[in-house]
Amino acid sequence: MRLIFLGAPGVGKGTLASLLANEKDLVHISTGSMLRQQIADHTELGKEAKSYMDKGELVPSELVSSILAASLKNLPEEQGYILDGYPRSLDQAEYLDQLLAELKTPLDAVVLVEIPTELIINRLSARVTCADCSEVYNLNDNPPKKEGICDKCGGKLIQRDDDKPEVIKQRLEVYEANTKPLIDYYEKKELLVRVDNSSTPEQGLHKLLAALAD
Ligand code: AP5
Ligand code: MG
Repeated sequence: MRLIFLGAPGVGKGTLASLLANEKDLVHISTGSMLRQQIADHTELGKEAKSYMDKGELVPSELVSSILAASLKNLPEEQGYILDGYPRSLDQAEYLDQLLAELKTPLDAVVLVEIPTELIINRLSARVTCADCSEVYNLNDNPPKKEGICDKCGGKLIQRDDDKPEVIKQRLEVYEANTKPLIDYYEKKELLVRVDNSSTPEQGLHKLLAALAD
């Protein structure tokens, strides 16, 4: 199964992708996580990406698309995957269409993850992420067993630099302007599947599995 997860910041794309990837043996490819890894590794790409991410802007497509293409080309042909956070603009969607046509691996569905806007700020301001393995927690709904420490790998939990209120606002505006048009794009291709993720992650997964089976 080859899927895209689309949706505003904080709707739970990463959390849901991780649950579905475990359930269906899919590779979870998050461009946001890949870029944060480049920042942690102090690469040139990471330095450039950080200047955009810290402001809540999109990183230029030529930087993101090259790392995305490399990771897709490295996968065995039969390996299913979830693209979480890519594409994020029409030019990226067209680039992906071309890449997948070359690889002869068409998409199965584009999942639009949705929650009411007022929940987004709550979820993002309570999110902490493991600096080592990227596991995501929520201090309100899904706290770690030990404060500040990742249950999975013992790494340090940090708040993302772009989860400050003013940057969240900018990310939401960028989503409206650049990414939302993709809903129409994939609806026209009859690939769009909508999933409400406003209850628990487990219920979100249950709804997602039902929607994909339809
Ligand atoms: P990215 O990392 O992709 O961030 P995002 O799209 O803004 O989305 P988030 O990761 O913030 O939210 P999410 O939907 O994954 O929610 P999560 O599961 O964590 O991108 C970051 C930046 O990188 C961009 O701003 C851009 O600069 C750059 N970038 C990335 N891709 C790019 C591209 N293609 N082109 C250009 N630039 C790019 O959940 C959020 C919180 O809610 C967590 O605390 C979680 O525990 C909790 N939660 C999740 N689900 C539930 C639930 N069902 N119930 C209760 N709590 C829940
Ligand atoms: Mg995410």
